[in-house]
Amino acid sequence: MPPHKQIEQRLQQAVSAALPDADLTNVLVRPCPDPKFGDYQSNALMGLAKSRKLNPRQLAADVLSKLDVSDLCEKVDIAGAGFLNFHLKTSALSQVLAEAAKGEHLFYSKATQPRTYVVDFSSPNVAKPMHVGHIRSTILGDTLARVLRLLGHRVVTDNHIGDWGTQFGMLLVGWKKHETRAGSEPGDVETLAQIYKGIESAIQKETIGELGKRYPKKLEELGKEGLPESEIVKKMLNDLGANKPNDLSPTDVESRDELVKLQAGDPGNFAIWQKMRALSQVQFDTLYQRLGIKFDETLGESFYNPRLQQIVDDLRSKGIARESEGAMAVFFDDIPQLKDSPALIQKSDGAFNYTTTDLATLQHRLETWKPDEVIYVTDGRQQLHFQQLFAIFRRWHPESKTKLDHVWFGSILGEDGKPFKTRSGETVKLADLLDEAEERAARVVAEKNPDLPHSKIPEIARVVGIGAVKYADLLPNRQGDYVFSWDKLLALNGNTAAYLLYAYARIRSIFRKAAEDGGQRTEDRGQKSEDREQRTEVMLVVPEEIRLAKQLLNFGVVLEAVAEDFRPNFLCNYLYELAGHFTAFYEKCPVLKSEGQTRASRLILCDLTGRVLKQGLDVLGIETLEQM
Ligand code: ARG
Repeated sequence: MPPHKQIEQRLQQAVSAALPDADLTNVLVRPCPDPKFGDYQSNALMGLAKSRKLNPRQLAADVLSKLDVSDLCEKVDIAGAGFLNFHLKTSALSQVLAEAAKGEHLFYSKATQPRTYVVDFSSPNVAKPMHVGHIRSTILGDTLARVLRLLGHRVVTDNHIGDWGTQFGMLLVGWKKHETRAGSEPGDVETLAQIYKGIESAIQKETIGELGKRYPKKLEELGKEGLPESEIVKKMLNDLGANKPNDLSPTDVESRDELVKLQAGDPGNFAIWQKMRALSQVQFDTLYQRLGIKFDETLGESFYNPRLQQIVDDLRSKGIARESEGAMAVFFDDIPQLKDSPALIQKSDGAFNYTTTDLATLQHRLETWKPDEVIYVTDGRQQLHFQQLFAIFRRWHPESKTKLDHVWFGSILGEDGKPFKTRSGETVKLADLLDEAEERAARVVAEKNPDLPHSKIPEIARVVGIGAVKYADLLPNRQGDYVFSWDKLLALNGNTAAYLLYAYARIRSIFRKAAEDGGQRTEDRGQKSEDREQRTEVMLVVPEEIRLAKQLLNFGVVLEAVAEDFRPNFLCNYLYELAGHFTAFYEKCPVLKSEGQTRASRLILCDLTGRVLKQGLDVLGIETLEQM
C-alpha cells in the first residue's frame, strides 16, 4: 500500500478514536500542493471541526495524540486553520522504491472495489470524413478507458456511430443522382462526403435565396458584416426563429420520401444505406488502426431504431413526456436551467430524435453491462443535450444508482484564434493531419540526431508524430479551447510528447551503456536472490535523488486524480515534471561513473523513472522508442 494510503488509513482510525460518530469518507490524504509545507496533507479536520463547532487546531492536536505514523513520517505539523502536513521519512521512501524495484508495484494499486464503466467516445458520423473535432473525443476517451483499466476497473468502450437519421434521406437522393450521372455508385467515402457537401451547399444557396426574398433588409445587414454564406444562413435562421434550412429546400420532399422508404425497410434503399456505412467504416478503421485504438463495441445509432417507439410510449404512459404541437416532448419545469428547453423525443411527422436514441442506448447499456458509471466524451456544444438526457433518465429510472457523466471538451482553434481550418478554409481531415505530423516529426528527429540511420526515421517519425498529436489534445485543460500550433506540438524542449519520448530513450541508452561496460551487475535478471536483495537497496542522499523519488511515489495519486475528474492533463503535467526531476538528478548525480552501491541505487532510480514514463505514456495511448 502506498505510504499516503497507509497514513490515510491510520488518520481515519485516529479520527474515529477522537470522534466516534465521524463520517470518514472525506478523511483523505493528498500530496501537498507546495512541497515546502510537507509531502502529504489532509484538510479533513477543518470540516469535521466546523460541523461540530470545535476549535479545528484543538481537534487536530487531539487527533495527532492518537495518531502513530512514526515509522513513515519524520514529523507531522498542524498548520494554518487546522491542516495536517506529513513529512515523509527518507527510509520509508527508499523502502517503497525498493519494493517497486523488486516488481511488487509501480506506485499505484488496483481498486479494492472495481467499478464497471461504459465509455462512449469517438462516435463519428457515417458519410462525413472524420475531422479534428472527433479526434479529441477519440483520444480523450481512449486515455480515460486505459487509465480506468489500469486501476483495475471493468471498462466497456462503445463507439456510438451516427449511422441513422434524417441525413440519410439527403444522402440517398445524392447517391442516386450520382449514380445516374456517373453511371456507377460512389466508390469511396470521399465521394460520398463530396455528395453530402454538395447537397448541403445547394440547400444553403437555396435557403439564402428564400430568406433573402422574405427578409431582404436582414440579408443586406449581415452581408455588410462580411460573414460567409453559411454563417449568414445560421444567423438569419437563428434571429428569425425559423426552421432548419432543409425545411425550405426543394430536395426536402425527395429526401423525405427516400427516408420514409428506408425506414419502411425498402430493400433498395437499405442496400445503399449498408454500402454507405461500410464505406465509412473502412475509413474509420484505418484511422483507429493508425491511432492504436480499439473498441469493445460499435453499436451505431441504427441498432436502437427498433426500440424507439416503445421508449416514447413508455415515457408517455409514465407521464414523463407529453404532446406539444403534435410532437412528443419532455418539459423540465422543475429544473431552472432547463425550464425553457424542452427535449423533443418524437417529431410531429413521427420521426425520432437524437435524445430518443440516446435513451434507448442507455437502457440497452444498463441491461447489458449493469454499469456503475456511463461516460460520454463529446464536444462542449452537446452540453444541453446531455443535461436533458440525464434529467429524463433520472425521472424515468429514479431507482438507478448508475452515475452519468458528460466529459466535454472545447474546440481546436487555428493560430489565428478561429476554428482550425486548412489554408483554403476547409475543415482539417484527421488523416491529413496525421500525415503532416509524421512528415514534420521526421524532419525534427533527423535534425536533432543527424547520425540516425535513414531506415530508422519513418518508424521514429510515426511514433513521435502520432504521439505529438495525441499529447497536444490531452495536455490542455479539456474544457478550454486550444490553439493548434505545429511548432509547439513538436518542440523538443517543451511540455510535449517528443520531449518525454527523448527522456525515455535517454534512460534506455544509459542501460545500453551500462551493459556495454560490464553490465552484468545491472541488466542480468538471472542472478542469485541475495545479490538482487542487495541490488534493490535504494540510497537517497542528494536532494535531487530525494525529489525524484518523491515524484515517482506520486504516480498512483495522479492516476487516481485523472480517473476521478476525467482529466488526463494531470498525468501529462506529472510526466513532464518527472522528466524534469530526472534531468536535475542526472545532471547532479553521476550514474555510470559512480561505484558500487551508489551506482546500483542510481540505476534503480533510472529504471523506475523509465518504467513510470513508459507506463504513463502507454495510458496516454503513446508508444515509446528505445532509441531516437
Ligand atoms: N455522433 C455524434 C456527433 O458526432 C456524437 C455521439 C456521442 N454519443 C452519444 N451517445 N450521443 O456529434
